[in-house]
Amino acid sequence: MKAIIPVAGWGSRFLPATKAMPKEMLPVVDKPVIQYIVEELLDAGVYDIVFVTGRHKRAIEDHFDINPDLEQHLEKAGKKELLELVRNISYLINPIYIRQKQQLGLGHAVLTARPALGAEEPFLVSLGDIIIRKENTVKRLIELHKRFGKSVIALFEVPREEVSKYGIAKVKKIDESIYLIEDIVEKPSVEEAPSNLAVVGRYLFTPSLWEKLEKTKPGKGGEIQLTDAIKALLQEEAVYAFKVTGKVYDTGNKLGFLKTIVDFALERPDLSAEFMEYLQQVVKENSKAKK
Ligand code: G1P
Repeated sequence: MKAIIPVAGWGSRFLPATKAMPKEMLPVVDKPVIQYIVEELLDAGVYDIVFVTGRHKRAIEDHFDINPDLEQHLEKAGKKELLELVRNISYLINPIYIRQKQQLGLGHAVLTARPALGAEEPFLVSLGDIIIRKENTVKRLIELHKRFGKSVIALFEVPREEVSKYGIAKVKKIDESIYLIEDIVEKPSVEEAPSNLAVVGRYLFTPSLWEKLEKTKPGKGGEIQLTDAIKALLQEEAVYAFKVTGKVYDTGNKLGFLKTIVDFALERPDLSAEFMEYLQQVVKENSKAKK
């Protein structure tokens, strides 16, 4: 199965850092966010990855390519571990790049990838902002697709006041942690939201979605929304869902990004002890200053 990762967005929430660098390349400790998303796919056996890119995103292509100069340098310097780190990712992945000339929304970005996908094949979509750990959500999507033969969407629970940041689903429980989607709405207000179950940015679609995407008109924020195409798909096909059990990190906003870095650094054997000590000191000093 192939996967699409849309990476053409401006990254305006992280300006000026993203003026000359793609937001997907922001590092979580020492690995760019996009690599975590790619590793989840590779781990699920998905190697053909279609990146929907834009101008100024060349760094992503370079990152997933081999780098003979750097590899030679590391080899000569005897830096075996670094060499492995640099090499592994580019040797496993089969990347395909398609330019989205105009950024007309997530639905439009997915539709742009269509020429790289078989007309009759199901496909995955992973969004580049959200890292999910302790569970491979892509594997779960594939398993449920095998079982039901339909589209599957991963959901996670968000606090009620955060529903306006996500696509929100109305669901019917059909089995232990498996749901049927009854309705879906993009970034509703707290009053409009049919639940607090949010789309986490991992989807598996049947090819029926293509026709719906083609017909989708601009929606929320004047953008062609993937959520609206899913809503149209619901009229003719069942769409399944499940709640992720892993930990969800939304790196697409500043606070979420900072929380991600802290958690990931605390899990690193080479950093955790000293970093924890530093954090405790910072907390102590700050609470003293507040008193
Ligand atoms: C997109 C989708 C939204 C989904 C979210 C997950 O929004 O449109 O439905 O819940 O990703 O991150 P964005 O974060 O691109 O605004």
